[in-house]
Amino acid sequence: MDIKLKKSKTVLKDELFSIDNKKMSKAKKEKALSELHGYEFGQKKTFLGYQINEKIDYKTNYSDYLNISLNNVGDPFTDGNLTTNTKAVEREVLKYYAKLWNNKTREPELQKDDFWGYIVSMGCTEANIFGLLSGRDYLEGKYLLIDGEKEKRAKKLSKSVQDTECLINYNLLSSYGKIKDKNKNRLHPIAFYSQDSHYSIVKAMEVLKISTFNHEASDKKYTCPLNEKNYPKNFSKEYLDKNKWPKEVPSNQDGSVHIPALVKLIEFFASKGHPILICFNYGTTFKGAYDDVKSAVEQIVPILKKYGLYEREIEYAEGKFDIRNGFWFHVDGALGAAYMPFIEEALKQNLIEKPNKNYQFPVFDFRIKEVHSISMSGHKWIGSPWPSGIYMSKVKYQLKPVDDPMYIGCPDTTFAGSRNGFSALVFWEYLSNRSYQEHVEQVVKIENLAQYTYDKLKSLDRKDKLWIQRTTFALTIRMKNPITNLVFKYSLSEEELYVNGKKRQYAHIYIMSHVTKELIDSFINDLKKSGYFEG
Ligand SMILES: Cc1ncc(COP(=O)(O)O)c(C=O)c1O
Repeated sequence: MDIKLKKSKTVLKDELFSIDNKKMSKAKKEKALSELHGYEFGQKKTFLGYQINEKIDYKTNYSDYLNISLNNVGDPFTDGNLTTNTKAVEREVLKYYAKLWNNKTREPELQKDDFWGYIVSMGCTEANIFGLLSGRDYLEGKYLLIDGEKEKRAKKLSKSVQDTECLINYNLLSSYGKIKDKNKNRLHPIAFYSQDSHYSIVKAMEVLKISTFNHEASDKKYTCPLNEKNYPKNFSKEYLDKNKWPKEVPSNQDGSVHIPALVKLIEFFASKGHPILICFNYGTTFKGAYDDVKSAVEQIVPILKKYGLYEREIEYAEGKFDIRNGFWFHVDGALGAAYMPFIEEALKQNLIEKPNKNYQFPVFDFRIKEVHSISMSGHKWIGSPWPSGIYMSKVKYQLKPVDDPMYIGCPDTTFAGSRNGFSALVFWEYLSNRSYQEHVEQVVKIENLAQYTYDKLKSLDRKDKLWIQRTTFALTIRMKNPITNLVFKYSLSEEELYVNGKKRQYAHIYIMSHVTKELIDSFINDLKKSGYFEG
């Protein structure tokens, strides 16, 4: 993606907030705070462009907690020495999402299939980085938290593997060194993610030095295995690199990953013995699309089995072996993981209609036993005064921390050091205020408003030139970008996309819980006044 630096339009002037070696005068401070308040709450009134819920009230119950430093440093399941933590609350929030995403509850005597996760300090970016870091280390054969050796030495691989004809004849029970000689790619994961993935995924690959299929292909000068039939309809060649490889896994027009291309690319690298790291999307950033994780996994599993990657024995330390997957499937559910479970329920209760009679709800969670980790933002669907999010996985996929710091009095199993302890209260407030059925009713309300918005915009686009589109069950509607003043007034997010080889400048709006029919109508009126519909 080319980065163009635009001059940003700001209304608040830096000088208002200038600080120096003198204490600020009372008058200057009051003016600064008053302008700040006016600006921020003014913009909030017309906020329409990002997947952020502005309908929040944490002031009523939690204003006191701005005067205490809450810190959940370390593992959420051990309280630790830093006593001003909210880990008891955090654990209940995690339990809620474990259940919502069909993960296994934690037993009093911990089982390896039990859930494990934590509330991140950043947004979903941290949860994605942690998921991909865990996937990388797991596939590179690093030490897991649960010592597989202690759990009885696995003498035999599971039946699923025994039944499978391994095309690559790994000497599964030989030592790590020997295995390495036979297949140098065995501990070199290759990552796959679609062209609609969030930029945090691209960043994670770079930060974590994970080889993407495109980098590996370019390094090794491989010929791309995709033929015309493997590309989605209307795929633009601008998304190919100079060696004719797609830069990222091609997506369908609706923003979901194109499964035939994904499967073919995976087979290419699996046949060379590489473990496979996939980042699926559940609610893509721009188009709000949901990858059909279940269908993709069903088509990928036979390939993994064929090449001995479904389960394999790893020597994770000198003379110590365990059996683990040769793949890691992470689901970036920044937005969708929070509300799609309720859409699924609304469909079951016939509160919303299936988009067509063949529609199958795209299952993404731990009902798919091959899913390793899920990430979600807290400030998007739920709404939070600051970025927050959740990382969710299982005990058996936890990596052993690199150090065991006595200093914090609990295991250092999370990504950062200090963790935001206030975010747990934010999640808890949201969840404790609503019954399951109320969540269902809320998603139905939002779905209806999104459809209303789409229908209204579409009806005004008489010349059909404004590219107004909505992906099934997406909270976003995309369109040709309007004039700059409206982009600013409604905080619209813009994106440049190629469609049929032509570059287009899009903007989108997001229908979140604070958005009302009145706000939509006033946005459409502003578009009309600006001559938008006259093309
Ligand atoms: C699909 C997706 N993944 C990840 C992110 C990053 O999330 P955050 O901004 O919470 O770090 C976003 C943010 O828009 C997103 O849309």
